[in-house]
Amino acid sequence: MQILSLIRDRFEKALTGLVVDPASHTQRITVARDSRHGDYQANIAMSLKAEMGLPPQQIAAEIVARLQIDDICLPPEIAGPGFINLKLRDDFLATQVTLSATDSRFGVEAIVPRRYVIDYSAPNVAKPMHVGHIRSTVIGDALVRILRFLGHRVVSDNHLGDWGTQFGMIIYGYKNFVNENGFAENPVAELSRLYRLVQQVIGYQDAYPKLAKAEAAVLDAQQLYQAANAKAASDPKAKAGAKQAAKSLRAAEELLESLQQKVSAIESEPALEAIAQNHQNLEQKVQFETAKLHAGDTTNLELWNKFLPISISEIDSVYRRLNINFDYTYGESFYHEMLEPLVSKLVVAGMAVESEGATCIFLPGFEAPMIVRKRDGAFLYATTDLATIEYRMQHFQPDVILYVVDHRQGEHFSKLFAAAKAIGYENVDLQHISFGTVLGSDGKPFKTRSGSVIGLEYLLDEAVDRAYQAVCDPQRLQKAGLNMPEEEKRHIANTVGLGAIKFADLSHNRTSDYEFNTEKMVQLEGNTSAYIQYMYARAQSIMKKSDSQISRESVAGYSVIFAESAERDLVLQLLQFEDALHQSVEAYYPSVLASYLYSVAKQFAVFFDQCPVLIASTEQLKRSRLAICFSTSEVLRLGLSLLGIGTVDRM
Ligand code: ARG
Repeated sequence: MQILSLIRDRFEKALTGLVVDPASHTQRITVARDSRHGDYQANIAMSLKAEMGLPPQQIAAEIVARLQIDDICLPPEIAGPGFINLKLRDDFLATQVTLSATDSRFGVEAIVPRRYVIDYSAPNVAKPMHVGHIRSTVIGDALVRILRFLGHRVVSDNHLGDWGTQFGMIIYGYKNFVNENGFAENPVAELSRLYRLVQQVIGYQDAYPKLAKAEAAVLDAQQLYQAANAKAASDPKAKAGAKQAAKSLRAAEELLESLQQKVSAIESEPALEAIAQNHQNLEQKVQFETAKLHAGDTTNLELWNKFLPISISEIDSVYRRLNINFDYTYGESFYHEMLEPLVSKLVVAGMAVESEGATCIFLPGFEAPMIVRKRDGAFLYATTDLATIEYRMQHFQPDVILYVVDHRQGEHFSKLFAAAKAIGYENVDLQHISFGTVLGSDGKPFKTRSGSVIGLEYLLDEAVDRAYQAVCDPQRLQKAGLNMPEEEKRHIANTVGLGAIKFADLSHNRTSDYEFNTEKMVQLEGNTSAYIQYMYARAQSIMKKSDSQISRESVAGYSVIFAESAERDLVLQLLQFEDALHQSVEAYYPSVLASYLYSVAKQFAVFFDQCPVLIASTEQLKRSRLAICFSTSEVLRLGLSLLGIGTVDRM
């Protein structure tokens, strides 16, 4: 049941014959901000003033006269300058809610399907994973679930970074520094040690020659800062300059500090220092190994084949725990063989041209072209992405491709999309579903504890532990009268903890940054999945305690009546489920669904507080309230499942 579109349809009919473009006005019908003005509000008449040449109140009266909506609403009211206020009929709400509850989709209708490819998660394997990878994974997974539920045809594809320089790094590391026993014992750990070792040495060799200049820059900045401060002391207008100088000084100091850290990490360990001395220009050496791999060198390919499953096993265990599944995992390596033919084809067609030795696609509106082959013959990230579009168009014929990737790649995607258009892919809607950064409590990008091999797994464990403490605290369970075996407690902690990681991410507007805090995210109060799961469990527990066996099959026999406003408010919200789903994929913001579920849970808490169920004053009222509990739990369970989050029957 999409109430909003139902109302909009009725208005469209009423406007037909009255105005030029009826459909263009119905977006101005929304949920009423203030429930005293009804449930929905049409803010249409004012904007028709020019077109119809009448005072808005008169226009509103005209629309209302033509509107056929009395099967859904009470007679519409015209307020203020020409708002049309709508209140849904109680009998309409009551019938619809039980009807929806009899359906396993809570009445959500399948729509005209579109074909989607969703490109998400896509970590660069063989590098330690970090919390940023959660965002793409969790947002992408929620979009897959919601779009599929609505009836779209969705192909999910994990565009794994499995062909990049990181493999050159571990190949070089393995050839030169492997600890055979360590590798035999724990290959994942040994490979990440090798990765970090090579990265550290490269970092050192890059930083060392920059030190002197950075030190001088700090001294300069200090002088400027002192001078600016002295000036500001006598001249208030110079304050801004002093502030700016302080900022520059801080930036110079931070740069110096980060260089010093890279240098001292190596110089404080003689063994590392020896490696840095004996392996000069390590970055080039690594690039050479990568190039050899790409050119099909047997040894390097063998090593790559040996390392890839090891690297993937790490991320796979995270996917398993988070219940994330992909239709395809065509990593970058999958497209390798397609790059040369693609570039040649583009050159022959005149779409790509040689420029300063490189092969480029020039794009209208962009200063720099998109390079598809470097001067040394190497292909790029962008080349692979173009080949990927070609492959997807041939094999999946998508109407839309969504790329759930961090905002820093915005430039890459705008170029890629322009290039795809330029080479003839005009009928596919390519969208970068960008997202912000995960922050630590210091407001800086979140860092997993350095030294931990598997940053992500560690965070999942931590969230589950914290969920256990928050929810399975013996005192709390005793007070709630819940006596359960350890196994059930573990299951609850797992469902709450892993759900919390997802919800903390999904409840924030994806384009904003958010603070990662496992302690806050598992709390039973506030905008958390634990709170929503708890409300679900409460609804379940009331139903269990009642003597009547309410179920999807029997709920049709429980008619709903409204004795308190809390009942009506809740039912109205439940019936907005389908609207919330559509709104959450309109611009691909799962946060819309997350905040909808939170409002339902809050509204259920009000209902729970004000409307006794098991001891309701009449049997009829009790049955009605049971039906409301049942409907709420259906919406919460379904809604959470579309965010990839589970529920438990008691907690
Ligand atoms: N592996 C890339 C990274 O970690 C993300 C890939 C996103 N997908 C794509 N088709 N480019 O930065």
